[in-house]
Amino acid sequence: MGLSSTSTNPQSNLSLGLPSPTVPSRRTQIADDSISLQLDSSLRDPSHPVPPFPLQLLEPHTENHNRNLSGETGKESGSDDDDDDEGREVEEFRILGHSMCLKRRKDNDSLSSSSSSKRMAVEPGLEGRKAAVRSWGNQPLCVADPDLFGIMEQEKRRQFMGIELIASENFVCRAVMEALGSHLTNKYSEGMPGARYYGGNQFIDEIETLCWKRALEVFGLDAESWGVNVQPYSCTSANFAVFTGLLLPGDRIMGLDTPSGGNTSHGCYTPNGRKVSCASIFFESFPYKVNPQTGCIDYDKLEERALDFRPKILICGGSSYPREWDYARFRQIADKCCAVLLCDMAQISGLIAAKECANPFDYCDIVTSTTHKSLRGPRGGIIFYRRGTKPKKRGMLSNQGDDNDQYDFEEKINFAVFPSLQGGPHNNHIAALAIALKQVATPEYKAYMHQVKKNAQALASALLRRNCRLVTGGTDNHLLLWDLRPLRLTGKIYEKVCEMCHITLNKITIYGENGTICPGGVRIGTPAMTSRGCLESDFETVADFLLRAVQITNMVREHGKLQLKVLQNNKDILELRTQVETFASQFAMPGFDI
Ligand SMILES: Cc1ncc(COP(=O)(O)O)c(C=O)c1O
Repeated sequence: MGLSSTSTNPQSNLSLGLPSPTVPSRRTQIADDSISLQLDSSLRDPSHPVPPFPLQLLEPHTENHNRNLSGETGKESGSDDDDDDEGREVEEFRILGHSMCLKRRKDNDSLSSSSSSKRMAVEPGLEGRKAAVRSWGNQPLCVADPDLFGIMEQEKRRQFMGIELIASENFVCRAVMEALGSHLTNKYSEGMPGARYYGGNQFIDEIETLCWKRALEVFGLDAESWGVNVQPYSCTSANFAVFTGLLLPGDRIMGLDTPSGGNTSHGCYTPNGRKVSCASIFFESFPYKVNPQTGCIDYDKLEERALDFRPKILICGGSSYPREWDYARFRQIADKCCAVLLCDMAQISGLIAAKECANPFDYCDIVTSTTHKSLRGPRGGIIFYRRGTKPKKRGMLSNQGDDNDQYDFEEKINFAVFPSLQGGPHNNHIAALAIALKQVATPEYKAYMHQVKKNAQALASALLRRNCRLVTGGTDNHLLLWDLRPLRLTGKIYEKVCEMCHITLNKITIYGENGTICPGGVRIGTPAMTSRGCLESDFETVADFLLRAVQITNMVREHGKLQLKVLQNNKDILELRTQVETFASQFAMPGFDI
């Protein structure tokens, strides 16, 4: 049976009343002004003609009725409703999540003129309805979902008690959390400020334009020359939006090889040739690599490969690269092969904003980033693009294949973000980003970023002093890559043991000197613990813990393979874990109390 929803229709043979939250004593007939459903005649089954009498939905939900829905079917028992239901068939179903009861009257009685006033009489009062909304709408999480609440509390404790060394993680402030968990999640606002597909966006427009303004300001950009899109849900989607906006399927891109420290969203293949990210599925990606001896990007080889491959987009920026990027050299290479130069500054955007790293905006055409790493905002992505008049001799003049002397990234990128790849922006995220960017503009944030870098250097020299091998021999930013192969460990095993000792870091592949790759190292970053107030001397202690974890890993491995169950009760691991937790829990935690 096909049903189509209509507004009031006196001739309708189905009428529907939503169940009310309170329980009236009697059901009444639905009046003519109720929402109604009509049978779609084109969908009627001729073998089952629709009865010539009206169908009526029962409005209220009595206890008996609820019981009936969960078990018995058909006619309800007890109460004077029985009288009302005599001579009627009762059918139950759900609509808009509400349990409904359909009554098909078998007699010919029509709707009485008094039905409207009867309905008024059983309608719940405003106070009752308010209470009903509050009962599902205003419960705190611990009441609404104690199971989930319990798990979330455990995660809180894990974050507080451990040493967090994942280079791409950070701890956001309370204000960012408040915005993320706010009413802004309720609003649909597809489109851009001033040009939305929905009404009611005057405040959302204000939030997004404020966010634009702050984003440009923190990177010292002039709105005449740079535009920004703050809607991408992540940096992977931001990068893909750039490719989608500027390229055709099969066009060529070139980024740092994943084993060399590049990100999968720049195009990635497994050693057996499997295409991993959409960037490599829909576009032709060809990587450049680090020099296996030095661990640094080999710019001469990069140039050679780029001139052979002629990518339309050349990408600088990566996930695990501890050294400075030579943007001027990238620009030269991009110009030589007429490529657009994209920088993915996800890892180092905070350092760039604080002028602790070289500035890609001086040389690149498009810059993308995550917003949740060193930038210390909510999880998401952002895209900056050049706008206005193109400078002469920039590669993209010829690359774009038109005589236009104006950049045309803005429209292409914005259209790729929405509607090509995304729907409505996450306004709670955009507000939270605006808050984070306000912080980024402060001298305190600049001091924080300076400390992040000093801490990374302190940790690097503490490890080097203990004869550890770091890829490239050190760091220029917030992260270091520890080659564990001389210690006869793999990144996977070491990561596991560290996790058991409540130290969180992640395994990485290391480029072997002969060009082979193996998961022989770990990546360690300082932004998260610096957000908790750690200084260089604290990272000396962290180095001691890391070395102790190496000893333990070697010891437990001497007794054969790593057995997780055995490790859980290992005395050395438990002892180190206690020391780590005692150390970590002395520091403040941004965002929440514990
Ligand atoms: C350089 C770089 N780009 C992109 C990403 C992916 O970011 P997201 O998780 O927001 O998609 C990362 C994540 O670590 C990254 O390091």
